[in-house]
Amino acid sequence: MKKFLNVFTAITLVVMALSAIAAEEKKKEISLFATPQIDYAASDPVLGWVDSRNMQSLNGEWSFIVDPMLAGGPGGFMNYLSGIRNDDGMTLVEYDFDTADKVRVPGDFNSQQERLFFYQGVVWYQKTVTKPALKADERLHLWFGGANFTTQVFINGEPVGQHVGGYVPFSFDVTDALRDGENNLIVRVNNKLDTESVPTYRTDWWPYGGLTRDVALIKTPKAFVRNAKVRLAKGSYEAIDIDVETHGLAGKTVKVSIPKLGVKQTAKVNQEGLATLRVNAKPALWSPESPTLYDVEIRGGNDAIADKIGFRHIEVKDQTIYLNSQPIKFKGISTHEEPIGEAGAAYSQAHVEGLINEAKALGVNFIRAAHYPYSRHMAKVADRLGVMLWEEVPVYWNISWENPQTLAVARDQMARLVQRDWNRASVVVWSVANETPYSEPRMKFLGTLIDDTRQSDDSRLVSAALLGGIDSFGKVAKHIAAKGLVDSDTSAEAKAKFKAYLDRQEGDIPSATDHYNHVISDPLGEITDIVSYNEYFGWYYSGMMNRMLDVSQADVRPLMFKHMADMSISSVFDKPIHISEFGAGAKAGNKGGKANIWTEEYQANVYRAQTQMLANSPQVQGMTPWILKDFRAMLRALSGVQDYYNRKGLIDENGQRKQAYYVLQDFYKNNWD
Ligand code: GCU
Repeated sequence: MKKFLNVFTAITLVVMALSAIAAEEKKKEISLFATPQIDYAASDPVLGWVDSRNMQSLNGEWSFIVDPMLAGGPGGFMNYLSGIRNDDGMTLVEYDFDTADKVRVPGDFNSQQERLFFYQGVVWYQKTVTKPALKADERLHLWFGGANFTTQVFINGEPVGQHVGGYVPFSFDVTDALRDGENNLIVRVNNKLDTESVPTYRTDWWPYGGLTRDVALIKTPKAFVRNAKVRLAKGSYEAIDIDVETHGLAGKTVKVSIPKLGVKQTAKVNQEGLATLRVNAKPALWSPESPTLYDVEIRGGNDAIADKIGFRHIEVKDQTIYLNSQPIKFKGISTHEEPIGEAGAAYSQAHVEGLINEAKALGVNFIRAAHYPYSRHMAKVADRLGVMLWEEVPVYWNISWENPQTLAVARDQMARLVQRDWNRASVVVWSVANETPYSEPRMKFLGTLIDDTRQSDDSRLVSAALLGGIDSFGKVAKHIAAKGLVDSDTSAEAKAKFKAYLDRQEGDIPSATDHYNHVISDPLGEITDIVSYNEYFGWYYSGMMNRMLDVSQADVRPLMFKHMADMSISSVFDKPIHISEFGAGAKAGNKGGKANIWTEEYQANVYRAQTQMLANSPQVQGMTPWILKDFRAMLRALSGVQDYYNRKGLIDENGQRKQAYYVLQDFYKNNWD
C-alpha cells in the first residue's frame, strides 16, 4: 500500500508540475500578442504660464514607426520598448528607431506622409534626450501642448504616464525617470476614436493624429508656482483678483507685480498651496479696438513666472451682450485649426496669425474656434491682435452620455482648456458642446460641464451650439408651402404638392403673407448665458423641405431665398441669441453660369438671405457663419467638388476668396449695427 501511495504521490506531483509549465507557456504564448495592463500615472495638473518658464524644446525630427497591428507593445509581439539592438549582427530584432522614418514635431502625421492621410491607429515616436544639468532643488517636467488622442510616455522602457483626450496640454515630472546622459524617450500615440471617446469616431473634421503640438522639457524649482488666474474683480473696474496655485510653497508668500499699474503685493500661501489676493488698480481696458496688455509677474520661492494679460468684463443682461459695460454684437466667423495654404493641423504662431488676420480682414471682432481646444498660440495671438474668442471642447453630436469615462475625459478637457486660457482677455465664451441631440442624460452630462466651468472661471460666458429639433421644421414646411402656393415662379406641379401637404396638416394653416418666426426652445438654453444655435436655412433645410413636401429642391431652393429675408429667429429664453453656424458650400472658381448649388453665386445668395433674416431678428446679437476656410473632412467625398474638403469656406484651402466673403464683409462693415 505504502509503495502505491508513493507512486501515486510522485505521479500527482509530476502532473501538477507539467500543468504549471503548460500554464506558464500558455501565458507566454498569449503575451506575444496581448499588451499587459499597465496602471499608468495620470498627467500632473495644468502647468500654467509655460512661455515664461525655463523651456528646452523637443520640437524637431523624431523617429517614427506606424503600428496598426499593435505589435509594438508595451510587452507586445515586437516590444518596441525593449531597447534591444542588433549591434553584433546576430541579434534578431525587427524594428530600429535609428533607421526608422522621421516626422516633424509639432504637427499631425496624416499630412506628413501620403500613405498616412487616412490613418487612424497607433504610432510610435522616439527621440534620444540628454538630461539637462539640474540644481539640487530643481525638477524637470516633460510637457506636451497636446497630442491626439491617447498618449503613453516611456523613458528607457519604463512607463512614465498616460493622457487620454486630445488637444489639451499635459505633463509629467520626469526628474527621477531620466538618468544622467542619454535617455530613450518613446511616446505611443493613438488617434483612433470610437463610440465612447470625446469626440466619437464620426466628426466633420479631420482626426489629425500624433504629437500635434509643441513638446518640451520644462525646468522648475522643487517648490514652484504651478498656475495663477488674474482678472478684474466681479462688478469692478478698479480692482484685480488673483488666485495663485503653488506646489511645495505652503506657508510661504507669493509676490505679484504689475509694473505699469504700480502693483507690488504679497500674499500668504495656505496649507492647500493656494494664495488669493485683490489689488487696487484701474487698468486701461482690453477690447478688439484697443487690445491693451499688461506685464504681470508672480514670484514664489525661487520661481518666477510672467505673462501679458488684458483686463475687461464680458456680461449679458436681458437680450444684450456687454463688453466693458458697452453693448456689443459678436460679428464673427467660425474656424477650424488648419493653416491657410498648408496641409494638416495648424500648430504655430504664424499659422494662427494667418487665420486671425484673414478673419479680421472680413471685419470680424469675434472668432468661434470650433470644435476643440486650439494650441495656446490662438488665444495669445487673439489677445495681441484684438479679436474675441469662443473656445470649445469636442463634445460633438452623439456622445456616450452615460459612460463615466467619457464624462471624465470631457471634464478633463474642459478643465485643462480653462486653466490654460483663463488669463486670455480675448476668450469671452466657453462652449461645452456642439449639436447634441436632446435627452435627459445629455442634459446631466452638459450640466456637469457647465457647473465645472463656472466654478473654475465665473468671468466668462458659457454656451453650447444647439440644433433645432425635427419638430420645429414642420412649421417651416407649412410656411414654405403656403408661400409656394401663390408664388408666380413656382411650377404648377410643385403647387399641387404644396396644396396636398397643407390639406394633410392639422391646426392652423399660415397664410401666404404670414411672417415666419423660428423659435429656439432647446432646454439647455435655460442654463447657458447666451443661446447659441446652428441653422442651415438655404442649404440643408431646403433638402429637408424637399423630403417633407415631396417637392424638388430646384423648386424649394429659390423659394427659400425669396422668403428667408422676411423670416426671423427668436428663442423662448430672455437671452441674446448667437447664430453659431449658418452657411453653404461652394467650389472656389465655380462661377459665371447658372447659380446652382456649389457655385460661388449660390453661396453668396445664401449669405445675402441669411444676413437679412438675422438682421430682422432683434434677439440675434451674434453670429459666426460656417466657416472661414474650406477644411479637410472624411465625410465630404464628392469628387471634383469636395475631394475630402468641406467647401463651406469663404476662402478655399489656399486662401482664394469666394464671392460670399465680400457679402459678409459688407454686412459687417455697413449693415449690422
Ligand atoms: C454642422 C457641424 C459642423 C459641420 C457643419 C457642416 O453644423 O456643427 O461641424 O462641419 O454643420 O455640415 O458643414
